[in-house]
Amino acid sequence: MEALKGVRVLDMTHVQAGPTCSQLLAWMGADVIKFEPPQGDATRGQLRDIPGADSLYFTMLNCNKRSIVVNMKTAEGKTVFVDLLKQSDIIMENFGPGVLDRLGFTWEKIHEINPRIVMGSIKGFGSTGPYADFKAYENVAQAMGGAMSTTGVPEGAPFVTGAQIGDSGTGLHLAIGLLGALHQRDRTGKGQYVEVAMMDGVMNLCRVKFRDHQRLTRGPMGEYSVPTEGLKATPRAGNDSGGGQLGNAIKCKPGGPNDYIYVVVQEAVWDALARRVGGEALATDQRFSTIGERRKNQSTMWQLLNDFAAGFTKREIMAILNELDVPCGPIMSTEDLADDEQVKLRDMYVELDHPQRGKWWNVGMPIKLSDSPAKIERSPLLGEHTDEVLREVLGYDGAKVDALKSSGAFSAPPKKKT
Ligand SMILES: CC(C)(COP(=O)(O)OP(=O)(O)OC[C@H]1O[C@@H](n2cnc3c(N)ncnc32)[C@H](O)[C@@H]1OP(=O)(O)O)[C@@H](O)C(=O)NCCC(=O)NCCS
Repeated sequence: MEALKGVRVLDMTHVQAGPTCSQLLAWMGADVIKFEPPQGDATRGQLRDIPGADSLYFTMLNCNKRSIVVNMKTAEGKTVFVDLLKQSDIIMENFGPGVLDRLGFTWEKIHEINPRIVMGSIKGFGSTGPYADFKAYENVAQAMGGAMSTTGVPEGAPFVTGAQIGDSGTGLHLAIGLLGALHQRDRTGKGQYVEVAMMDGVMNLCRVKFRDHQRLTRGPMGEYSVPTEGLKATPRAGNDSGGGQLGNAIKCKPGGPNDYIYVVVQEAVWDALARRVGGEALATDQRFSTIGERRKNQSTMWQLLNDFAAGFTKREIMAILNELDVPCGPIMSTEDLADDEQVKLRDMYVELDHPQRGKWWNVGMPIKLSDSPAKIERSPLLGEHTDEVLREVLGYDGAKVDALKSSGAFSAPPKKKT
């Protein structure tokens, strides 16, 4: 049995942050009903690669869900929403500030309608504080949560990271909060409100940067390859490891944009690594005899490793270093990953079919449950399950569905003539 079988999620989320979370819940077996406005989640039409088909932006974030279209700006649409609220364990949303309140559904009202329901909200900055009224997207959160100021090189501009820590990272945080609240609800019978601000989520992921922020008050930080003397804020430090062990990206043959390998010069492996790279002479070189000395002379050490790696491809270096038990990882492009044995074996890039787009691929479920592995199914078409949900979940009969349809509960109002 799936881990979340029997848990129903009323999923009002859109774009990336919320759908990431509800997709994970669906992959764990929850019945996720994606509740969409008549025009659908905006991402269905964004960055389209096939005319008229749901975009990969949408399909990759909305698998294993059912889609129902309801116009919440009609009285009838609101009654459908209320009926669904009563049948759900979780409601989740990531609208801009105040949207659900304007529709007449504050958390207090939702809790009154269904005291058992757990509500999850993602906001750029949460519902309190001076930033509460602002909208946010991925890079806004990366900018404001400390990620951008600590990514890149000191003499260059701040950089965003490719991993979607603001959106997908916040979705993960919300999933944890929802499952905690659901567990408590099952014991107390009472639901609660779970809020994750994207800025807070990014700060959480930048925790070690705040470790360093405080260490700066005690003097310079030896493991950084850039000067830290007198700094008041954690600097950008290129590809430094950021941990207790030294690390860096080393360039390999043939010198293309991703021909690098990340190498951690773990204390325990220095002797073996030094012997392989520079023989007895390097292994006994006093400039690198202790981790403290290696920190001091790290630019020379990285140069020696770069010189060594220049004769090998990243995969060859990986094989050499793995033999020595040196922690390392070739820089994998999306092309490398789409074709990687490990990725295939772990179902981390899975082929799916879709009525509008044919074959396509999704990144798989990264959380592996031994008794209930995820079975990945395609994303729903807009409103594909409207009738099914109304009849099966809400028990509406044909006459009621027809009456609601003609009232405009599931459609956009006709455009006003100008
Ligand atoms: C992402 C974001 C910037 C998008 O902004 P936006 O496109 O202006 O969308 P909003 O969420 O503010 O508003 C949604 C609108 O759709 C309407 N809507 C939503 N569901 C509806 C439904 N079923 N029926 C009718 N209308 C609906 C809302 O009422 C609202 O209309 P309003 O502006 O008249 O109140 C914003 O939603 C946001 O800041 N979200 C929180 C942070 C977040 O998750 N960002 C990451 C995105 S990956």
